[in-house]
This record gives sequence, C-alpha cells and structure tokens, in this order.
Amino acid sequence: MTPNQLRATYIKFFVDRGHVEIPSASLVPENDPTTLFTSSGMQPLVPYLLGQSHPSGKKLVDSQKSFRSQDIEEVGDNRHTTFFEMLGNWSLGEYFKKEQLAWFFEFLTKEIRLDPNRLFVTVFAGNPAVPRDIDSVGIWKSLFSSANIQAKDVEDAENKGMQGGRIFYYGEKKNWWSRSGVPSAMPAGEPGGPDSEIFYDFGAELQLHETSQFAHQDCHVNCDCGRFMEIGNSVFMQYQKQADGSFKELPQKNVDFGGGFERILAAMDNTLDVFTTDLFRPILTTIEEISHISYDGKHKRNFRIIADHVRASVMLAADGVVPSNKEQGYVLRRLIRRAVRFGKLLGIQIPFILEVAQSVIDQYKEIYSDVGENSAAILSTLQEEEQKFGKTITKGLKEIEKVPTLNGEIAFTLYETYGFPFELTEEIARERGQQVEYGTFRKAFEKHQELSRTTSKGMFKGGLADHSEIVTKYHTATHLLHAALREVLGKHVTQQGSNLTAERLRFDFSHPQPLTEDQKKKVESIINEKIADALPVTPQFMKKDEALAQGALAFFQEKYGDTVSVYTIGHDPEKDWYSKELCGGPHVKNTQDIGKMKITKEESIGSGKRRIYLQLA
Ligand code: ALA
Repeated sequence: MTPNQLRATYIKFFVDRGHVEIPSASLVPENDPTTLFTSSGMQPLVPYLLGQSHPSGKKLVDSQKSFRSQDIEEVGDNRHTTFFEMLGNWSLGEYFKKEQLAWFFEFLTKEIRLDPNRLFVTVFAGNPAVPRDIDSVGIWKSLFSSANIQAKDVEDAENKGMQGGRIFYYGEKKNWWSRSGVPSAMPAGEPGGPDSEIFYDFGAELQLHETSQFAHQDCHVNCDCGRFMEIGNSVFMQYQKQADGSFKELPQKNVDFGGGFERILAAMDNTLDVFTTDLFRPILTTIEEISHISYDGKHKRNFRIIADHVRASVMLAADGVVPSNKEQGYVLRRLIRRAVRFGKLLGIQIPFILEVAQSVIDQYKEIYSDVGENSAAILSTLQEEEQKFGKTITKGLKEIEKVPTLNGEIAFTLYETYGFPFELTEEIARERGQQVEYGTFRKAFEKHQELSRTTSKGMFKGGLADHSEIVTKYHTATHLLHAALREVLGKHVTQQGSNLTAERLRFDFSHPQPLTEDQKKKVESIINEKIADALPVTPQFMKKDEALAQGALAFFQEKYGDTVSVYTIGHDPEKDWYSKELCGGPHVKNTQDIGKMKITKEESIGSGKRRIYLQLA
C-alpha cells in the first residue's frame, strides 16, 4: 500500500461508517493568538468539541497537516518529525468508546492487516477527579479476544515492566490528553479527557542491539527504547476545565482520535525507521544523489534532519509562511538553515535545498492542492533563504580569519551568529593546526538551549484558543475592516492573512500602494459607523457555492468543505448586509458590542501586500 493509498483507505473506512470528510486546515491557525502552528487534528475543531455545531455534521474524518516546533531538536532519531499528518476522526456527541475502539482496531487489523499480536494498548488509571477508564478495558478485552488473544490488564508497567500484559494503566502524564497536557496545566475553558493509546511492537529482539542502552531495563510500551511506537490515540474528550480548577462534563461526549500517518506506515512496513517508508524514500534518494553518500551508513541522523526540515519548510511555505526573525517566520528560517548546515556535514558544498524541496513537492502536490499550486513561490522562498544563509556563512568565514586562536566559546559564537555547526569550526581550526574543546562549546550551547526553552515555553505552548471577549470583538472588526477596505480601495482587495491578540488586530491584504491619509480616515470612519449602527451578526450554514454566489468572501477557498459556515453583518442576512464571509467564528452578536476602533499602523509587507493594525480606541 502506498502512502497515498493508506491516507485514502483511512478516510474511506470512516466515510463508509457515516463520517464526512473535512479538508485539512492551514498549518498557521486563523485567529488563534495563543499558538503559532496547528499541532493536532483537534485544534481547528475546538469550538465544535465545546458544543458549537459543525457545518459538516457530527461525525468527521480528515488528515490534518500538523507541525510541532518543540520537536525540532528531537529530529534525527527513528520516529520524530516536526511536520506530520494526523489522521483524525471525531464524534461530536454521537458515538463513544465502544464504536471508536472497535473501529480503529478493525481498521488496523482487517483493513491494513497489522498483526493483532503486535498491538498493545494503554488506558487512563484514574485520578481524584476522574475515575479509572474501566469501560475501555472491557472493550479492549473483548476486541482482543475476537482475535483469539487473551488480553491481561496490568498496573505500574513503568516500574514493574510488561508482566505479560496487553492493556496497561497509566496516570495523567500519559493517558490524559489536552493541548496543554496534564489537568493542572490546562487553562480554564480548555477541553480534555482520558485517552487510550495503541502501540505497535517492533519486537523484543530490538532491545538487544540498536537500543542497547535500554537493554538492562524492563521495557514497557511507554519507554523510550524504540521497541514500541505509538500509532494512534483515542481521546474521550468529555471534560472542560473550570475557572475554579474543577472539571465539568461537557454537554456532549466527544471522541477525538489522532493517528500518526507516518508511524502507521512504518508499522505496515514493519520498519522502525519512519524515514525508510515510501513517504521519505524519494526525498532520501535525492539527498543521496546530491551528496554521493548512502543513507544506510553512519550519516542517518544528518539525512533525517535534512529530509524532515525541508519537508516541513515546504509545507509551511505552502501555507504562506515567509522566513523572518519573528514567530512562524523564525521557525521556518531555523528549519531551512538547519537543513543547510546538516547538508554541509554531508559534504554538500553547492546549493541543494531546491532539489530536495522539489522531491517533497512531487510527493504532496496531489494531496494538498496548495503545495502544487504554490510550488513556484515555495521554491523561490526556500532558495532565497538558502542564499541569504550562504552569505552569512561567507561573512562568518571572514570573521574567523581575524580570530587568532579558536576555542569552544568562539565556536559557539560562530554557531549562534553564523550558524556554523561545531564540526565545521573544528575543521577550520584543524587546518590551522589548532584544536577546539568540544566541552566548552557544549557548555555554552546548553546554557543557550536552557534560555531558549524558557523563552519559547510561553510562545510555543498549546493552550486555549483565545476566544476571550476582546479577541472576539477584534475578529468581528476584521470582517468590517475587510469590507471597508474593499469599499474604499476597490474589489481587488482580498485578505491575505490575519492575526489577533488581546491588544490589537492585524490584517494583511492585497493592494499595490500605501494608503493615503484620506483613505485611512475613510476606512476607519466606515468601521465606526457600522459599529454605531448596531448591526446584528448572523451565523448561517449553507452550501459553499450558494454562499459564494451570494457574494460571501472566502479566504483560502480550498480549505472549506461543501457545507460552510457564513457570518453576515447587517440588518437582514439576505437583503441588507454590509459584510458576508465564510468563517468559523466566533463573533460578537451585534457590532455595537465591539466599541470604537482606530487604525494604528499601515505598512508594506512586500510584493503588492499591505498590513494594517487596528485597536480599540
Ligand atoms: N488530539 C489527540 C492527539 O493529538 C488525538 O494525540
């Protein structure tokens, strides 16, 4: 089965069981200031898990592009990737544990024919607030028994090992899921719940070689030795954290399932290395051709980092991210530069990102239309950044000339400022008959890592999409702004992106020149007029074509399903309205709830795009 077939088989399996396929959301979340990237399938669905009705119904399935920036440093082993696809299915208050576990077990063992003997599962052991998940234990026992396996449930595998068990109880660190982790870390309003994970066993014999450092330990499914790989997680999302720290049952019991596409492929191939699956093979082959080095040697880690980072860079660029020193742009810059650096370690002296990126594009263009459609822009974005980095390195080499003796600290400065991998500095130093102590380099490096971990903690944390009152106001103001810009500047204006925080709204749009003072004044006064007019904001579901025919504005059209949610601002959503947009909300109920707005800044963001900032006056 090819990767594309696996994705399609999963979707079809759930469509056949009454689910509606929804398109993958962008990797850059819309109107969610608390998180830089979409990092799981449930993230774009939070409002629906909390009770809002979804335009496509109560049973949904998709493959969601996801990115976890906190995994950058982990990449290089057999299974970590920054970008990944999460296969997802959801019940929004429809089916629950029995159907979910049975369906996924059927999918794994019948549809893609994994050996049930290699499957092991975990369940929530319970805590003072939420009881132990004995329902799932019962369901798993009967499912395994249907495959002639007597599944024993055991406690404390972390300390006591497998004990011949197949079902393992773990506490909230492992078997509770929310975007912010354990219950105590969840902000008020965040949904979460106990979960049940499925692991694939690559075989006890593995503990004896590749992973010998763990060979002396009693292995268990959640240990890091690499014998087991988590391939899917069913979250029974039925709780919402309250302001007083307690947990309240949600009005509906949801299932939030996430399956690791790359990992399921690895399990199907029975290979521990996700990079040797057909998904990565063409990308590795391209790197082999450029470097004249084989992947199956001692350079696996470098290969994996390049393959992962270029793949993730392509996907981020496809969703409109541009390298910069801030937020998403900074992460993309870091990925591209790391890929280039690790290319140097493979001895690649020429620009190579373009060629690798092309093989990534070939792999995904049929699946994610934005990858194919934007391929020229993606390639030039990546190429430009590689060139910029090349110049920085040349500058760094000049600086080195000036340093009489190279040492660990200088090696770190070179790494920090010019992106020199330690090995590169070492090699320069060697040419001069000098030696650099790795220990001092490492120390400086670790100090830096600690610092960046603390600063990025706030920045990259998951957490509740801020649907707080003020962000909701800014969100509705964004729609008024969009319509006002089109009224004042012309219909060529379209939204290119937006970003809301509790302090301001930021809106990107297409327009070739700076706005004149007069135009800014006009836009601002239209917005304030519409706010003063106390216009109702009305949500409706309708067919996408119908919405577009009514003149509704859409952002990235390909991201919407057939049935869409539309927000209209005006006295009558059919006959007398000012703004109509395809949008998931949330919004204020009436424009008068927004309060007076003012434009604070307007600037170019290059190539016919402008950026405008507004805040409450
Ligand atoms: N939301 C769950 C996860 O990401 C399924 O693991």
